[in-house]
Amino acid sequence: MDQKKSNIGLIGLAVMGENLALNMESKGWEVSVYNRTVPGIEEGVVDRFINGRGKGLHIQGYTAIPEFVSSLSLPRKIMMMVRAGEAVDELMEQLFPYLDAGDILIDGGNSNCEDTNRRVALAESKGFRFVGAGVSGGEEGALNGASIMPGGSADAWPEIKPILQSIAAKAPDGTPCCEWIGPAGSGHFVKMIHNGIEYGDMQLIAEAYWSMKQLLGLDNDEMSAVFARWNKGKLRSYLIEITSSILSHKDSNGKYLIDEILDAAGQKGTGKWAVINAMELNMPLGLIASAVFERSLSGQKELREKAHQYFPGDQQASHDNKEEYQEHLFAALYASKLVSYAQGFAVLQQASTQFSWKLDLGQIAKLWRAGCIIRSVFLNDIASAYAAEPASMNLLLTPYFREEIKELLKGWKIVVSDAAREELPVPAFSSALNYFYSLTSQDLPANLVQAQRDYFGAHTFERRDAARGKFFHENWTGHGGDTQSGTYNV
Ligand code: 6PG
Repeated sequence: MDQKKSNIGLIGLAVMGENLALNMESKGWEVSVYNRTVPGIEEGVVDRFINGRGKGLHIQGYTAIPEFVSSLSLPRKIMMMVRAGEAVDELMEQLFPYLDAGDILIDGGNSNCEDTNRRVALAESKGFRFVGAGVSGGEEGALNGASIMPGGSADAWPEIKPILQSIAAKAPDGTPCCEWIGPAGSGHFVKMIHNGIEYGDMQLIAEAYWSMKQLLGLDNDEMSAVFARWNKGKLRSYLIEITSSILSHKDSNGKYLIDEILDAAGQKGTGKWAVINAMELNMPLGLIASAVFERSLSGQKELREKAHQYFPGDQQASHDNKEEYQEHLFAALYASKLVSYAQGFAVLQQASTQFSWKLDLGQIAKLWRAGCIIRSVFLNDIASAYAAEPASMNLLLTPYFREEIKELLKGWKIVVSDAAREELPVPAFSSALNYFYSLTSQDLPANLVQAQRDYFGAHTFERRDAARGKFFHENWTGHGGDTQSGTYNV
């Protein structure tokens, strides 16, 4: 008798793939798994899983693609959990010959949305369906409930929805943190912005930590306690929670592990892509950019050590009222976080308009309430802001956040100015504050930039006393010509 067909296939048994397979099985789905066999590198992976964590479960293991594919019920649903990049393309090419029309490939990796745009078109041109699904939550989320952001071939959604929603985290109101995002690479685009925000949150928390340590002279346990306290209020979030735990964690040698870790941060690329995409869309994403660049600069450890010899700095922990100052730090962290989310959501809104994706920003905020790395209570406030004003042009200008910023501004300014005076780097706090000042400035010195462009390159300018869209050129020196450069903007 034929073996029972599986409901879903999963390719790639690294930690995320393994955990997703176990999560699916625990929700009652029959799962087939496949992993390539590479002599000396990936040997016996399937056997180890089937006879280890997968033992006795409704999981069938395969080491050959044809058998794996034919073990799946139609239309086949195959989730790929392999490294982003060429590996996905190679795998698709290996799968195509064995698929039937209507079969669905799901890429659950951190793929670049441009690649997903292309892959959706390619799969559809062959009669298949393709879904780029951002999956956030790390190892733990994959096993117990992740936040999942699927986009691509829309008619695949009803087929995969029951499986993906069953393995998703549930928000406090019970809603699964998995909803259809939109066409083409929109799911991976949303995941990329999630990751950019993750970079921003982490940098902001790091700056709060550093300010407490360097300006207030708090020790690790004291700082752990401050983060634990913040985690009970408006900043309640996974990243604040783990920061509190990290700060009090001791190494096996009895020392605080945080003090033993080298200050050189790595990155796998999604934060950088977020900034590149924001630039392509002409949208400011300065806070996340500062977080990405700060990781890069942190990696230049030797250069920093050299530079420090020339400019040793002059920092003094000087605040008597440490309790009060913690409130200023809270304000700087919370206000800067508001700026970061306002910038990130504005990029989503612009992408939605430009690519006709019809993204539901309120729903995206809801998807991030549980399961993912940036999960926080604050996302409820963003969801509510969008529910009240779906077409809001900037989150900071919605009534709730306007009032929040008014409360926070004083402490935020104190922290940024004190840090500048004490020669303490807080690039994300200050980037956020400067964005806020620029955003709320009716007048900026961009008139001078326009004049300079026109002076040296006849790039033209608009005038305050003429209608927008009408461009002028000045013969600044008396010996320049009247020929103008084009007025196009990228
Ligand atoms: C998630 C994370 C995850 C990401 C890692 C590493 O949502 O679960 O965003 O997808 O890959 O956090 O990112 P970096 O190496 O770039 O810090």
